[in-house]
Amino acid sequence: MANFCEYFKGIGVNEPLFSVLESIKKSVRLISEQIKKVDTGKAGTKNVYGEDQLALDVLADKIIQDEFKQNFLIGLIASEELPNEIKLGDGEYAVCYDPLDGSSLVDVNLAVGSIFGIYKANSFIGRTGREQVAAVIAIYGPRTTLLVTTGDGVVEFRLTDEPRFILSKKNIRIEEGKMFAPGNLRAVRERKDYLELVQWWMNEGYTLRYSGGMVPDVNQIFLKGKGIFAYPGYSECPQGKLRLLFECAPMAFLMEQAGGAASDGRMSILDQKVEHLEQRTPIYIGAKKEVKRCERKLGNWEMS
Ligand code: F6P
Ligand code: MG
Repeated sequence: MANFCEYFKGIGVNEPLFSVLESIKKSVRLISEQIKKVDTGKAGTKNVYGEDQLALDVLADKIIQDEFKQNFLIGLIASEELPNEIKLGDGEYAVCYDPLDGSSLVDVNLAVGSIFGIYKANSFIGRTGREQVAAVIAIYGPRTTLLVTTGDGVVEFRLTDEPRFILSKKNIRIEEGKMFAPGNLRAVRERKDYLELVQWWMNEGYTLRYSGGMVPDVNQIFLKGKGIFAYPGYSECPQGKLRLLFECAPMAFLMEQAGGAASDGRMSILDQKVEHLEQRTPIYIGAKKEVKRCERKLGNWEMS
């Protein structure tokens, strides 16, 4: 099987973009090593959303920043753990990232992940996810894997113990199939439309696969090649919880590249404009038919 370098050279990815992907790959390898041994306690600080940071959240962010600072092609970064975008230099690439998504699952030993969106830009504000030139998610589970797109389909790499990443799956495609991951179920207390949809999934015999971590929950849709992940809003959080720039847009780019879809209930996540870094959005992501069903059923909800 091809390694990271052979694969991207083989599909004609240009040298500068490959170099950015290399920096991401290196930081993922380092985070994966740390997760196995570092304490899972709190850092004693809060992030911009008022959430308690774990020592590991802070460490993962530092590992990525340190790696990116060594790459002069990366001129701008933004992290879910930091309040502002940071200019690193004149490099043409801008990388936004969620260093450790689902980090509250680390202490119970469930899978967590990192998410990266890569743009050519000098600010993330005003961009849409469609402008991404590449996106990557890393999954730290029993195995460490990467899903990558450079706009030419989606592939998976697996970290071996050498340690290096080898291509483990090519041409990842999403077809039809009955699997559901219904996030933010607390919304059914006041949203009859969501309650009815969940009941429909159950009546139709869909298999429930939900861990509470967006990265592993959406990763299984890629790998099983079917299903739907939903995270709607309700009165307390009309836009839900998940962040457009750091979480939803990179996932959506990967999903569309695998033949699936990602919507906020009305339009593609990739067409939403980033107005500010902390922007949140409802998301329905997975097989096209499933996303359409969510749009039909949930897209007209207005907060009463
Ligand atoms: O980053 C947010 C996150 O941890 C996602 O990975 C996950 O899908 C979601 O929160 C779970 O949210 P809640 O705690 O509301 O169930
Ligand atoms: Mg997150």
